[in-house]
Amino acid sequence: MAYLNENYLKLEAGYLFPEVARRVREFCEANPEASKRLIRCGIGDVTEPLPSAAIDAMKQAIDEMGKRETFRGYGPEQGYEFLRSTIAQHDYRDRNIEIADDEIFVSDGSKCDCGYILDILGDQNKVAVPDPVYPVYVDTNVMAGHSGPVKSDGSYEGLLYLPCIVDNVFVPEPPREHVDLVYLCFPNNPTGAVASREQLSRWVDYAQEHEALLLYDAAYEAYVSQPNIPRSIFEIPGARDCAVELRSFSKNGGFTGVRCGFTVMPKSLLARTESGKRMPLHPLWHRRWSTKANSVSYPVQRGAAALYTPEGRQQIRVLIDHYMGNAKILREAVAEAGMTVFGGVNAPYIWVKTPDGLTSWQMFDRMLRDLNVVITPGAGFGTQGEGYFRVSAFNSRENAQEVARRLEKMR
Ligand code: MLT
Repeated sequence: MAYLNENYLKLEAGYLFPEVARRVREFCEANPEASKRLIRCGIGDVTEPLPSAAIDAMKQAIDEMGKRETFRGYGPEQGYEFLRSTIAQHDYRDRNIEIADDEIFVSDGSKCDCGYILDILGDQNKVAVPDPVYPVYVDTNVMAGHSGPVKSDGSYEGLLYLPCIVDNVFVPEPPREHVDLVYLCFPNNPTGAVASREQLSRWVDYAQEHEALLLYDAAYEAYVSQPNIPRSIFEIPGARDCAVELRSFSKNGGFTGVRCGFTVMPKSLLARTESGKRMPLHPLWHRRWSTKANSVSYPVQRGAAALYTPEGRQQIRVLIDHYMGNAKILREAVAEAGMTVFGGVNAPYIWVKTPDGLTSWQMFDRMLRDLNVVITPGAGFGTQGEGYFRVSAFNSRENAQEVARRLEKMR
């Protein structure tokens, strides 16, 4: 009989969002009338239709695939040149950040890249994650055997958790101890916090001093509204030597169902072998894609490239304004209901202190039962998330307004 990967057995519970979905399903089965009023502000999944620029480009690409003269089979494993150069130019070089076309690797999304990246990193790395945290960073490391067993509070032995709390405005400072790999996410999921240039510079200094690698998840960069907040880790001098950036078209172009994202892997980024030899990670990442994947389909890559056209950019602006309009409505409604609220200014997530000392799952139950609104319990994101809940602004305007009305009941 074959052996299984026992690391999977360490995983404490189901993945957070399927777990939320399971509890919601149970509630709906038991309460069919209430289920008709249900509004989902749980998972951060977009609700608005795709930008027409992307739709037109994907349709045209499908038509090309239907003619012998323009048909395409396998594409380059790292992504088509037309998309890699468009990304490097618009997201980086136009903002005075030196990133070469071949430092962009197109993928099926940044959640996926969070897992894939561990293929090229050693199992010896000491890993630090924020707490609360996007659960994928933790679970992929547990699956890869980079942690010990789960502890009674749901955290894992062997990982270093960086508390993100009110006192540090949910932005962790570098630890005193040494780690090799640090996950950072700004604008943050789940707290909606953003890091200043000074805070990110301290992380780059730490990484240089400790020869650590920063895995910087910038999936929500399009939501930054304050002009002085960095949108990319590569805005910080020195980051090219210590950071990988993960980006996505899910939350700007609404591609959660289409699937496309990318990593930026600078060629100057080094890691070490067990014997102490320093080697670039870029060729390993290139090789990983060549061997394990064939990138993303041609029509999807055409759709992603169309998001950078003048029309595409304008349509993204409309989407972001829509979701951030929801964020403002929800943020204000939560505050008026007497709760303490964070985030929702540079991010589509609102992070709320639970009232009356409720645990976050108790608050989840109360919101579901009394308001028929689904939120995400903060404890699902880590021990420091206990006593908080997250409200997602990804919704129709009508639903955001209705949630605001229902919250009045909680005043
Ligand atoms: C979330 O709700 O945290 C996100 O939608 C999850 C994701 O992007 O994978």
